Amino acid sequence: MRLIGRSESMRALEADLECAARSDAKVLITGETGVGKEVVARLIHERSARTRGALVALNCAGLPDSLLESELFGHMRGSFTGAYKDKPGLLESASSGTVFLDEVGEMSPRMQVVLLRFLESGEIQRVGADRSHRRVDVRLITATNRHLETHVASGAFREDLYFRLNVIRLVIPPLRERADDIPLLVSYYLERYSQIHHLDAPEVSTDAMATLADYRWPGNVRELKNVMERLVLKSAGRLVTSQDLPLEVVRGDLRAARSRPGQPNRGDASEPSRAEELAALMLRDGESFWSAVFPVFKSRDLTRADLRRIVQLGLESANGNYRLLVRLFNMPNEDYKRFLSFLRKHDCQLPYQRFRAARMTDHTTPHSVRTAV
Ligand SMILES: Nc1ncnc2c1ncn2[C@@H]1O[C@H](COP(=O)(O)OP(=O)(O)OP(=O)(O)O)[C@@H](O)[C@H]1O
Ligand SMILES: [Mg+2]
Repeated sequence: MRLIGRSESMRALEADLECAARSDAKVLITGETGVGKEVVARLIHERSARTRGALVALNCAGLPDSLLESELFGHMRGSFTGAYKDKPGLLESASSGTVFLDEVGEMSPRMQVVLLRFLESGEIQRVGADRSHRRVDVRLITATNRHLETHVASGAFREDLYFRLNVIRLVIPPLRERADDIPLLVSYYLERYSQIHHLDAPEVSTDAMATLADYRWPGNVRELKNVMERLVLKSAGRLVTSQDLPLEVVRGDLRAARSRPGQPNRGDASEPSRAEELAALMLRDGESFWSAVFPVFKSRDLTRADLRRIVQLGLESANGNYRLLVRLFNMPNEDYKRFLSFLRKHDCQLPYQRFRAARMTDHTTPHSVRTAV
């Protein structure tokens, strides 16, 4: 297992990780979903002196207190229905190893007390036992995608527990804040999934790479990984263009482009125009052109200028690609010709070239050559 990423923040994280591995102190890892918190926890264990011991992971979310407590501390026979024999908990099984508690921010107030008591004494009391069973030697690594400080401030998370857990703090930045890592991760996962599926790796056009680098990646590396697996399955051995990317990625790119300051063609009015509203219905809310725009235009509630503006907004997001525009406006691919002849008939088919050119000057990516889509 390794941490992929050469951005400055990932190199700093690697250094902090090494440092954490050399010590035995508790570690709190924070970051959005899918950024690699579990990967980091596993690497710390692997590189630490405890590597020959076990690494036991437990997700605290979604488990009722009683189950969480018995998972962690074990239970005595007869302590609840179904407890047929004494059972050690994870803390015992991980003795001289590491325990990784994921989503620790979800722990109930009662479980927070139980965990705190254990951290203070190092002693384990199995569920149903009337005294502590034994002391264990484990290292604790916790993770959460919540903003724990806010939960401490609101009283939802105990401050004393927070201070106990937050000895070494590792913060993993979201992927969008380290866009330099995106091309690296893209190549890595395309290669990896091609091997797994015994397919030829697709090549990514410069333009598609720019779109991938611009996307917000709310699901971070996990999301990117899934998108790459789908691309391998769909486009093995071919050149991937923006048109092959999932719609949410292309749409996200559009939103990013719009919010960039100094972007040309941005209406000055703060209120969205009718055309912008209709474009958003399709680009953001998934409505089809045939239901959102076509009837309104036919009934003359929309002017030609409005329709041109809608096409313009679409072409901006589709980087001048009419086939992609058809997808973004939620029409089936077969409607391509029908859509174009409709635009031509009403003199609303804008030349696509300038949208491609606009984007070329707009981007600052390491790729110097752009492949036409
Ligand atoms: N820097 C990285 N290098 C390699 N793989 C990564 C990296 N970051 C994340 N991954 C991969 O992304 C996926 C998600 O990572 P992980 O499970 O560690 O995320 P997480 O932060 O624990 O997410 P969650 O908050 O949803 O539990 C995993 O398949 C992991 O292998
Ligand atoms: Mg996780």
